Amino acid sequence: MKKNYLAFLSLLVLITSFGCKHKEIPSDTGSDADVLELIDAMTVQEKAGQMTQLNLDMVCIGEIYQLHEPHRIDSAKLRKAVVEYHVGSILNCGGHSYPRSQWLEIIRSIQEVATTETRLKIPVLYGIDAIHGANYVSEATLFPHQLAQAATFNPELTRQTAEITAYETRAAGIPWNFSPVLDVARNPLWSRYFETYGEDPYVCSVFGQACIRGYQGAKTYPVAPDHVAACMKHFLGYSGARTGKDRTPAYIPERELREIYLPSFRAAIEAGALSIMINSGELNGVPVHADHTILTDLLRHELRFEGVAVTDWEDVIKLHANHRVAPNLKEAVYMAVMAGIDMCMVPNDYDFTRYLVELVQEGRIPESRLDVSVERILRLKQRLGILRKAAIPSVQDFPEFGSAEHAALAKSVALEAITLLSNPGDILPLSQEARILVTGPAAHSMTMLNGAWSRTWQGTDSSFDDTTRLTIVEAIRKRAGSTVTYAEGCTTDSLTNISDAERLATSCDVIVACIGEKPSTEKPGDIQDLTLPAAQVELVQRLLGTGKPVVLVLVENRPLIVREIAESCSAVVMAYQPGDFGGEAIADILMGITNPSGKLPFTYPRYVNDLILYDHKQTEAVDPGFGFHAFRPQWPFGHGLSYSDIEYSGISLSHDTLTSADTLDVRVTIRNLSGRDTRESVLLFIRDDYASITPPVRKLRDFTKVDIRAGQQREVHFRITRDDLAFIGKAMKPVTEEGHFTIMLGSSSQTFYFNAR
Ligand code: BGC
Repeated sequence: MKKNYLAFLSLLVLITSFGCKHKEIPSDTGSDADVLELIDAMTVQEKAGQMTQLNLDMVCIGEIYQLHEPHRIDSAKLRKAVVEYHVGSILNCGGHSYPRSQWLEIIRSIQEVATTETRLKIPVLYGIDAIHGANYVSEATLFPHQLAQAATFNPELTRQTAEITAYETRAAGIPWNFSPVLDVARNPLWSRYFETYGEDPYVCSVFGQACIRGYQGAKTYPVAPDHVAACMKHFLGYSGARTGKDRTPAYIPERELREIYLPSFRAAIEAGALSIMINSGELNGVPVHADHTILTDLLRHELRFEGVAVTDWEDVIKLHANHRVAPNLKEAVYMAVMAGIDMCMVPNDYDFTRYLVELVQEGRIPESRLDVSVERILRLKQRLGILRKAAIPSVQDFPEFGSAEHAALAKSVALEAITLLSNPGDILPLSQEARILVTGPAAHSMTMLNGAWSRTWQGTDSSFDDTTRLTIVEAIRKRAGSTVTYAEGCTTDSLTNISDAERLATSCDVIVACIGEKPSTEKPGDIQDLTLPAAQVELVQRLLGTGKPVVLVLVENRPLIVREIAESCSAVVMAYQPGDFGGEAIADILMGITNPSGKLPFTYPRYVNDLILYDHKQTEAVDPGFGFHAFRPQWPFGHGLSYSDIEYSGISLSHDTLTSADTLDVRVTIRNLSGRDTRESVLLFIRDDYASITPPVRKLRDFTKVDIRAGQQREVHFRITRDDLAFIGKAMKPVTEEGHFTIMLGSSSQTFYFNAR
C-alpha cells in the first residue's frame, strides 16, 4: 500500500508538525486555534450549514432518485448547497457504484466550489457506506459481510479488511465511512442481521475494535491519507426491535441495554472511533434522535465520546412524520439538536438548515449549542486533513486499488468464515472424481454471494456484477476433476426448471444445493416468516427423493429455518454472504483444498418461534417434562466442524481461587487427531454459578484461533481477571460477585472460586 503520494504527505506531516503549538495535532491538518478561529468567524447560517448533510442527488443533474446517467454534478445546485446554504457534508452515491475516475471528478467539483467560492473555504466532508469493502466504487474489493467476518473468529482479518476498505474508499476521494455496524443481532428476523458481528456482545466488541483500527489506522491525529474516519452505528438498541421489523419499537430494559447492546459501542469509543450514527428507531417509547438521556447523558457524559454524532437518513423528519413526537418539522429540529445530534443527514431538502437558523434567531437554541457541534465537525475535518484544503488524489496515487493482494485477503476471509455445520457420513470433502450437480438459486448468482450494499443499496441488480468473479457453480467447475452440471431448479421463491435438476441428478454422484435469500437490507428486508421459502424446500426435497446425497450450501442474510431438509442432507455448509470471492472459497472448502474453520457467531434456530439465544437464562431451558432440555437450536452458537478430528484435553487452572488483584491462567491442550492441518477457533465460556441477577447459562469471555498441524497438539492459554466475570448488577453497574464460576472449553469444564478480597 505504499506510494509516493503517501510518502510525500507523511513527510509534510512530519516537517510541519514541529512548528505546531499543539504537538498532537500536526499543523498540516490545522491546530486547535484553527478550529476555534473558524468558529469565531462563522455566522449562524454557516454553522447550521456545517451541521447539514445532503444526499449527492441534491447536487447532481436530474431529479432526486432519478438522476441522469452518467451521474454528474449540477453546478447551480452545488452552489446552492455549498455557497448559499454553506452545507458541510454530502453523502452516498446516486443509487449505484461509480468508477474511481468518476468519483474523483465528483469530489473534485464539490471541493473546488467549497474551497474557492465560499467565504471560509472549508472543504466538504464526504461520507459513504463502505460496508464490506468500498462497495460503491466500481472494481473495488468486496469482502464477506460482517456476520461472515465474525465467523472467522479471527479479528486480525477484519482489521486488514477494514484497512483495505479504507484504502479503496480513500482512493475514490472519500474520507468518511458509515461503518461498522455495532448492533448486536439478537433477533434473526431483523433484516440487517448479516450486517452485524452476530449475537454476542463480546464478539461484537472485539471485531468492532479491530474494524475501527483498520479503518482509522494507528494514529488519528491526523488520520493517514489512506485511512478513513469510522462511524459506529446505530446508537443504541436498533437491532432490538420487538417485532424484528426494521425501525420498529425496541423495548429494552436498562440492564439488558447495558449488558448486551452497549459494550460494542463502549469498546469502539475506547478504540478511538471518530463518529457515531444514531438509531432510527424508538427505544422504550422515545425516538433515539430525540433522546437526551441516550445522546447526551449516556454518550457524552458517561461514555465521554467526543466525536461527531450524525443522524440516520431523514430521521429528524421522522420525529414529526413517523414517530409523531414533534408536531411539526421545526420542533423536530429543535428536539434532535437539543437531544445532542451534531449533524443531520437531512438529506434531500434545506428545511433542517433553515429551521435551525430560525431557532437560533428566535433564541430557542443558543448559538453556543451550535458551536459545540460545529467544533466536533471541524475537528473531524481537521483530523482528516480537510479543514483548510482538500487534496484530491489521482487514480495513480492508489496503485493497490483492487489488487490481487486485496482479492487474496477477501478470499482468505471467506475461507475462514465458511462454516461446516454437519457432515455425518464424511461426504465432504468431495472426491475429485465425483460427478456433481450444482443447483439452487444461489448456485449461479453473484448478487446472492455479495448481499445488500453491493454496488447498489439492495444489491439485487446483477448488471453491476463483476463478471470476472466466479459464482459457486463456475468455481466448482474450475476445481472439480469430473463432470459438473447445473440447473437452477428454483429462484429464491418460485420453482423454475426443477425437473431439469431432477433429471441431471440421476447421472451425478452428489448434489450441491445452494439455497438462501435474495439480498436485502433495512425496510425492504423485512420478512413475515423465518422459514426457508417453500419453493426452495420443495427443490431440496425433490432432490433428496432421487436418492442422491445432497450437500446444502446456505447463502443467507440471516438464519432461515431449514429443519425440514437439513437433517436429511448429507452435509450442510453455512456460507453467509461471502462476497466476490465466496464462490471460489465455497468450492475450495467443498473440494477439501481448504479445511473449514468457521464457527457460528449466532444461534441457528430450529423453529420459527423458538428463538432462544446461547446466553439464555436457565429458566429458558426448562422443558415441558421439567428437565433442562428446552434449548435445542438447529446448531448452537460457536458450532463449526472441520475435516479433522479435534480433541480438547481437560482444562488446567493456575489456582482454584481467583482474587481481585490476581489473574487466573487457564490452559487446555487441543489435539488434531487427523492427517490434515487444521485451524481451530477456541471459545472460552464462563458461567457464574450463582449471582444476585439471574446468570446466563454461559457467556463468551475470550477466544483465540490457532493452527494445529496434522497429528500435532497445541496448548492454548487464556488469562482471566475479575473484569472477565462481571455482569450488570442491581445498581446498573458492572460487578463481580464472590462465588463459584465454571469455565467451559470444548466439552471440558472446570470450576474455580472468586474471592472478592
Ligand atoms: C442506514 C444507515 C446508512 C445510511 C446512509 C440509512 O438508511 O440506516 O446505516 O449509513 O442510510 O446510507
